[in-house]
Amino acid sequence: MSQIFSILQLLADGHFHSGEELGRLLGVTRSAVWQTLRRLLDPSLELQAVRGRGYRILGGIDLLDEKKIQAEILAENCPYLSSIEILPIIDSTNNYLLKKNAAPSGYICFAEQQSAGRGRRGRDWISPFGKNLYFSLCWQFSGGLTALAGLSLAVGIAIARGLQKYGIQKAGLKWPNDLVHGQQKFGGILIEVTGDASGPCRTVIGVGLNLEMPHSSGRQITQQWTDIYSILGRRPERNRIAGLMLNELLAMLPDFENSGFSTVHTEWPKFDSLYGHAISILTNNGEVTGNAAGVDNSGNLLLKTDEAIRTFHSGEVSVRLIKNI
Ligand code: BTN
Repeated sequence: MSQIFSILQLLADGHFHSGEELGRLLGVTRSAVWQTLRRLLDPSLELQAVRGRGYRILGGIDLLDEKKIQAEILAENCPYLSSIEILPIIDSTNNYLLKKNAAPSGYICFAEQQSAGRGRRGRDWISPFGKNLYFSLCWQFSGGLTALAGLSLAVGIAIARGLQKYGIQKAGLKWPNDLVHGQQKFGGILIEVTGDASGPCRTVIGVGLNLEMPHSSGRQITQQWTDIYSILGRRPERNRIAGLMLNELLAMLPDFENSGFSTVHTEWPKFDSLYGHAISILTNNGEVTGNAAGVDNSGNLLLKTDEAIRTFHSGEVSVRLIKNI
């Protein structure tokens, strides 16, 4: 693992490196370098070999760097940051922190790649190497599950605020936890909880953000999607975006711990991409249609149907926008 990471650190600059140098690092002959690299590297990385010049990764890789992320954290948020860990590859950053019981609030783990990234409702989260952002953050809460109502919306708001600071003015949220631009998804939030349902519990807040999804990987995504590269028309800076999001999360979470969803409730309409749209909600008991009417003070979705305003919890439903109504 550390060997492949040293190779990637070398190739990250996008320049050519000789077969001799790479062979030495890989512990193989020059003639075996290409095969070995192809076997070890994520197929979405554009590896190029040119006779007489060596090997390079086209466009290089903007690797995650703890110091660069740390440098973005504002002094007032530093007390809430416990540590930043960067892993080259892991099954899922959420799995990793769920197992790391001793990780305190403010412990953050990023991965360059996830081999089994997880989305909501049992979906996969496509996580190719070195392009997007995948991270999880631990936070302890004392008030049991009821104190967590609306947490995924508050996390979404914090992330959207960070992205606005990076110039994505139209970063929106699709209840309960999708980051969208127009109606195209470019990020998602997966919060998992362990501990006491009515007492102290530990949350693992997982965030995946498409920064520059390679098209080969994007073909596996079944929803309408986009990435920040397409939104901004320029290559996004991974460490800067990571830092901007963490700043907002570290500022929001202590407030949420004290006051719950009310700390961000008034901000929800600014980001609500569903408001006023005709939507259909799939519950365990069937489908309900109506018009999205915002959220209540616990972050539950309000749906205006012909008969009444109905309320839905995030755990039980999936939401679909109805076109042309
Ligand atoms: C969704 O929209 O379905 C939620 C996606 C959450 C993906 C992130 S990536 C980092 C963290 N680790 C995971 O396995 N999942 C979350």
